[in-house]
Formats: sequence, C-alpha cells, structure tokens
Amino acid sequence: MLENELTKPQHILVTGGTGYIGSHTVLALLQAGYEVSVVDNLSNSNREALTRVETMADKQVKFYQVDILDTPALTRVFEENSFDSVIHFAGLKSVGESVKNPLTYYQNNVQGTMNLCQVMHQFGVHSLVFSSSATVYGVPASLPVSEDMPTGQPTNPYGQSKLVVEQVLQDLRSSSENWQIVILRYFNPVGAHESGNIGEDPNGIPDNLMPYISQVASGRLAELKVFGDDYPTPDGTGVRDFIHVEDLSLGHVSALQYLESEPGVSIINLGTGRGFSVKELIEAFSDVNHVQIPYSIAPRRDGDLPSVYADASLAKQLLGWEAKKDIRAMCEDTWRWQRNNPKGYN
Ligand code: NAD
Ligand code: WQD
Repeated sequence: MLENELTKPQHILVTGGTGYIGSHTVLALLQAGYEVSVVDNLSNSNREALTRVETMADKQVKFYQVDILDTPALTRVFEENSFDSVIHFAGLKSVGESVKNPLTYYQNNVQGTMNLCQVMHQFGVHSLVFSSSATVYGVPASLPVSEDMPTGQPTNPYGQSKLVVEQVLQDLRSSSENWQIVILRYFNPVGAHESGNIGEDPNGIPDNLMPYISQVASGRLAELKVFGDDYPTPDGTGVRDFIHVEDLSLGHVSALQYLESEPGVSIINLGTGRGFSVKELIEAFSDVNHVQIPYSIAPRRDGDLPSVYADASLAKQLLGWEAKKDIRAMCEDTWRWQRNNPKGYN
C-alpha cells in the first residue's frame, strides 16, 4: 500500500454541523485530522459558524445546504463523497415547540434519521454516532443516572422522538451486523469555544438556563425567572449536570475512534457526573464574570425534574473520555462568546 493511502484521513459527514454542538464538533474533528463535510438546512443555525470554524482550524469544510428530509439531495451528497462515518446532530430540539408541533418534531427527528440511515445503507456507510439526550430517562429511578437504567417516559414529543430514534437504531443493528452505532446521551450542554468565536445562538428568547443567564447579564433580557425554589434539592432549585460544549465535542471524536473497533450499539452518557443547582450556576456566572444577574422566583415549569446528573463512568471506561472543564470555564466561555457576539452570528 502506498504511504499516502495509509495516511488518508477519514471522511466524516456531520449532519447539523452548523449548529451549536455540531460546529464545535466540526472544529474538534478538523483539529484531530479528519476530513469533514456538513449537511445542514440552516433552519436553526448560520453558515457563518462554519466560516469561523474553518478560519480557526485553517482547514476547509464542504458544506451542503440540504434538508435530511430531502432524500434525493442527501443521496447526491453521498454520490459526491465517500464517507467513513456519520455524526448525526441534525434535528429540532425545543421542548416547548415540540409540544405545539409534534408532527414537525417526529418528522424531522424520526423520519429525518430514517432517511439518513436509508441513504447511508444504500452507500454502504454503517458507522454512526447519534445525538440523544438524558431526557430519554424520563424520571430517573435513582441518581446518578446510568445507562443500564430503563428509559422512562419523556414528557414531551421532543424527548419521545429521541427515544423512538434510539429504538430504530437498535432495530437496524439487529437487522444487520454491518451497523456500528454509538448513541450519546447528553446531559446539559453549555458554554462556548474558549476563543469566543463560536457559541450558542438561540433564535428568539432562550428556553435554556445558560443562554438566558448570559442574555440577562448583557442586558438583552431584564431578569431571569428561576422556575421553582421548593424542589427537594439543597437550595430548592433544580439541579443539572452542565457539560462544557468543548468537552462534549471531544466526546464525539472519542466515540468515532471507539467505533472503529467496537461493533454493535453502544449507549453512553456524556456528562460530568456532578450536579449544580440553578442558584449555584447564577452565582458562579456572577462571580466569575463580575456581572449582576437579576432574578426572581417563579412557579415550577411543567415537566421539569428536581435533579438530574450522570453516572459518567461508562464514557471513561469505553471511550477513555471524561469532561475536564469546570463550571467556571463554562461561565467564563459563555460570557466571552456573548460579549464578543451580542447578536450571535448576525
Ligand atoms: P442546534 O439547533 O444548534 O443544531 C441542530 C442543527 O440541525 C441546526 O444547525 C439545524 O439547522 C439543523 N437541522 C435541523 N433540522 C434539520 C433538517 N431536517 N435537515 C438538516 N439540518 C437540520 O442544536 P444543538 O444544541 O447543536 O443540538 C444538536 C443535537 O443534539 C440535536 O439532535 C439535539 O436534539 C441534541 N441534543 C441537544 C441538547 C442541547 O441541550 N443542546 C441536549 C441533548 C441532545
Ligand atoms: C435547566 C434548569 C429549569 C430556564 C433541556 C431539555 C433537555 C435537553 C437539555 C435537549 C431547570 C431551570 C431554566 C429559565 C430556570 N435538551 N431554568 N429558568 O430542562 O434540564 O433540559 O435542555 O435534549 O431535553 O429538556 O435544561 O436549561 O431548560 O433548564 O429556572 O429561564 O434551569 O427549571 O431546573 P433542562 P434547561
């Protein structure tokens, strides 16, 4: 074999690669020496994110503005390229919106994944990393949440769509041993790249805590509502396992490496293993960044759980991966991104 054949980088298709987690993962892949192509319909992201990633990595990415529901267009992407693996982020993720538009959510998240898998199979690509969520555990029987616990009943169509896709992927593997699949269940991704060049850019008013806090800090929003302070937690506010998006992105690189040798379906939590309360996060953000976060206590939000944090030991055991960045880094990097980009990518 020629030397350049031995050193040819693997080519990874990243769906949803202009999005929040996708863009950080594309950067991590380029920096790890992979060749990357991205498919995204830009329904919740901006092409500018990839331009910045390319500048940071000093490498190019092939970008296709394609909807994964558009099978002919997706097929053309596979015709033009020879992919080794796919990391599948593309999908819709707003819990509230999913309650209002369940069909759109099942269509994008379930049908979209089925289209992708069909096209992958047609082109003999059977290596897949899928973005799932801790939401599939529903109400956890105990804490920390480990992968061998039964999945629960997610309280909204978004969560259900993730659970259905997990089942579809398990069934695919049962149908053919060609498939190698890692299902990653993320806990609460937050933060931004430490450069402040890429980060989370939610449309409209954020649903999630960290982007809300940073928009209050910047004055874009007046006050944070803390949803409930009467939970059975140390300070009464909800407890979550916040994980830095850079750590999360590196978890995907580790998952790809693991896929090379591991057949079957592996389900792996990506979290830190440590919970922080809403009040602790507000305090950390204020302290680290020397900003005020005005807040008031509001009623509990429907469907919220008191406390969720991961048993993160399987990721360490199987992937050799663990989260490194602490809550201070999460707050500092979120704020750097927010300050440098007060209107996101626009
Ligand atoms: P994001 O919205 O920033 O990224 C998703 C990307 O997919 C966007 O760029 C969007 O334009 C694209 N997309 C959506 N539907 C598409 C379609 N039909 N065809 C092509 N592209 C499409 O979200 P994110 O936070 O980066 O999340 C990435 C993945 O991780 C999602 O599947 C999400 O459900 C999952 N996840 C996210 C979180 C979180 O809190 N951010 C937690 C657990 C799991
Ligand atoms: C965290 C805590 C809120 C906003 C959601 C999805 C989950 C996953 C991650 C995709 C809770 C409190 C929030 C606010 C608040 N996404 N909060 N005021 O609900 O743990 O998870 O995002 O897969 O599926 O459900 O994250 O950031 O919305 O909330 O007090 O304005 O912050 O009550 O305790 P959540 P979150």
